[in-house]
Amino acid sequence: MVGEILKLYTGKGFLLDKEMLELLSELEFDIAKGIIERLIDFKIKERVITRKVFDKYKERLGDLLVSNKGEENKGVKLLSPLNFLSKKINVEDFVRHFRSRFEKIKEILETKDLDNLSSIRRISVVNGTWTIIAMISSKRITKNKNLLLEVEDLTGSSIVLVNRENSELFAQAKNLLLDDIVAFRVSGSSKMLFANGIVYPDAVLKEERYSDIDKYVAFSGDFHIGSKMFLEDKVLKFISWLNGEVGDERQREIAMKVKYLFLIGDNIDGVGHYPGQEKFLDIKSCKKQYNKLEEILYKIRKDVQIIMCPGQHDAVWVGEPQSAIPEKWAPRLHQMENLFLVPNPSLVEVDGEFKILMYYGASINRFIDEMFDIRVKYGHKSPTRVVMEMLKRRHLAPTHGVMDYIPCGDRDPLIISNVPDIIATAGQHRAEINNYNNILMIASSCWQSTTPFEEKVGSIPEPCRVPLFNLKTREIKIIDFNEENGVKQEEGKQNG
Ligand SMILES: [Fe+2]
Repeated sequence: MVGEILKLYTGKGFLLDKEMLELLSELEFDIAKGIIERLIDFKIKERVITRKVFDKYKERLGDLLVSNKGEENKGVKLLSPLNFLSKKINVEDFVRHFRSRFEKIKEILETKDLDNLSSIRRISVVNGTWTIIAMISSKRITKNKNLLLEVEDLTGSSIVLVNRENSELFAQAKNLLLDDIVAFRVSGSSKMLFANGIVYPDAVLKEERYSDIDKYVAFSGDFHIGSKMFLEDKVLKFISWLNGEVGDERQREIAMKVKYLFLIGDNIDGVGHYPGQEKFLDIKSCKKQYNKLEEILYKIRKDVQIIMCPGQHDAVWVGEPQSAIPEKWAPRLHQMENLFLVPNPSLVEVDGEFKILMYYGASINRFIDEMFDIRVKYGHKSPTRVVMEMLKRRHLAPTHGVMDYIPCGDRDPLIISNVPDIIATAGQHRAEINNYNNILMIASSCWQSTTPFEEKVGSIPEPCRVPLFNLKTREIKIIDFNEENGVKQEEGKQNG
């Protein structure tokens, strides 16, 4: 890392003193890179960056440096703090956002064996074969039923035709989404390119991680507190179980081994999320809904470390990434010692080993709408099938317009740059566990019975089911709190 930083800064014509080199080496590489790019933008005169020089410009680097803090809370570390811009966001911020996304995913793709890699601009007028890394800007079926893709990189744009006769490739290409960044193996010339293969950036772990600690992580969220459909009795039963007060002896033993509880958004039902929501609300203000949440979470034994991010129904903006739930809405949550409030998405490390990427998953519905295969085969029944598509793309919400992006400076926080051991999502109200390339995908359930909206769109929730994961044995369980008497336990359920 030290070497890389030094190379980066000298490559741009700057020298670093020892103190600065140490300081920058402690940051994520992308942030150290962002700092030098900003300093160049500021047109600074100094060529040797000392601490004094750095401090002079520090305030103007503000949003980049928030991420320097690496927040930590009782064995839980936030590896992806966000840099929300403290200024009005303009078009250039969006340009920077897409540019940095392209560069980062290109970097990932370049680690693969890609033959004759070329930028679009350098493709010759004479026929040949190349690999290009490009973003999909449009997609349509031609009269001859072939697939025509308009693609672009930072040097130009081109057309890539996928022939329907190549059925395997055609099926693969049909699943490409707008703004996906992939590598195409192509033949042809600068006039028109023909696809021979598609390479996704993809996420792979060489092996599954095991910890020495015989503890469980529980995954939940989607309480929707305030809703008339909120299943309060069931939540209280879950908490009694967590506290070792419910279930048979074996179940109590497991409960007492739960060390971490991830709550992945929609902690409250909120207000004004859809027309007529009010008539489905028991509690009609966000503050009072959070009061209720505080009351419930305070009942959990204090040695359970809770990690909570917001979702689309929480009292933060709906664009992603979302900041952690602010103090003004939920002051007592901020006082809870065993609660770590984090943004959505967040990469969190527990016990210095397991990396857990938590993402509420607002983009899941759009993946289902846009991907024919998923829509027809699974519909809303398999959230992890969608998460697999995110992992393949190394991006949580690739298509612009799926939801609003909030540009965060020189880094797109929705890129999966660090491959996690577990990716945990919510929002679909169905618990499911699956594995992809040694990455465990866990979708959490909810604590709300079927809403009229869900009924209308044919999405059937399965509430009150809590996935558990053992850090030492990788054992998986789903505890079901729907039963009238006691709790039901499903062992090792892993679909696919
Ligand atoms: Fe929800």
